[in-house]
Amino acid sequence: MRPALSVRGFTKTYDGGFTAVDGLDLDVPDGSFFGLLGPNGAGKTTLIGAVCNLVRPTAGEIEVFGHPHDARNARRLVGLAEQDINLDRFLTVSEVLIYHAGFFGMARRRAKGRAEELMDVFDLTSKAKVRPTALSGGMRRRLLLARALMHEPRLLILDEPTAGVDVELRSELWEYTRKLHAAGTTILLTTHYLEEAEALCEEIALIRGGRIIARDSADGLRARYGADDIAGVYLQAMSDAAGDDRGAAR
Ligand SMILES: Nc1ncnc2c1ncn2[C@@H]1O[C@H](COP(=O)(O)OP(=O)(O)O)[C@@H](O)[C@H]1O
Ligand SMILES: [Mg+2]
Repeated sequence: MRPALSVRGFTKTYDGGFTAVDGLDLDVPDGSFFGLLGPNGAGKTTLIGAVCNLVRPTAGEIEVFGHPHDARNARRLVGLAEQDINLDRFLTVSEVLIYHAGFFGMARRRAKGRAEELMDVFDLTSKAKVRPTALSGGMRRRLLLARALMHEPRLLILDEPTAGVDVELRSELWEYTRKLHAAGTTILLTTHYLEEAEALCEEIALIRGGRIIARDSADGLRARYGADDIAGVYLQAMSDAAGDDRGAAR
């Protein structure tokens, strides 16, 4: 089966000459719940940006379900809830959803129906005519997720969806994502909450300094690092990699 996401030799050097990601290879299997874990600055958002055509790769190949990531059909297969909440402040909640669907060529009637369905799921129906600036932080996060789901993507990318989110909303988001995964959606999640990765992800890649330093099932990683949990794996893998960084610098 073709992977949901296949990345080969992805390199990103930003203007100014800083190489954030260097020759990264990664496969995310179709139907998996996949975690991408690593410290701030590791290159997670850069990688995601490249997959979603927000960051132009310096080198490498990226495919989504076997299609080049910048092809029209690939774009339609991916939904992204970005790390930074970016919502058009001149649109209402329902317009945010309907306009987004328009970018993906969804007919207006279908988009309206889908928006109503998602506002219901995410408890936003009473806010349909409100602008995002008048929403609470938790509601904005839910709207971001609803928007990512409007065009029914087969690969859903969640970049730190639970950062700064309260316990109740976090558990709701877990429940939604589990349901989506059960229905066959591939999910790529980045998070700093290791217990979240432990609870949700079947496969995990650890990234540091723009390189993948380990990738396996959660069980495989625990066994390989002789750790009881993913937090133990993470700490050990990151300190090993710090040794490698020092080696590379010498
Ligand atoms: N637009 C940009 N211009 C220059 N450097 C950037 C830009 N975006 C990100 N970076 C740098 O690239 C590195 C990786 O950032 P990022 O992909 O956001 O990491 P993560 O999401 O893992 O925290 C960081 O050192 C960051 O400062
Ligand atoms: Mg990031």
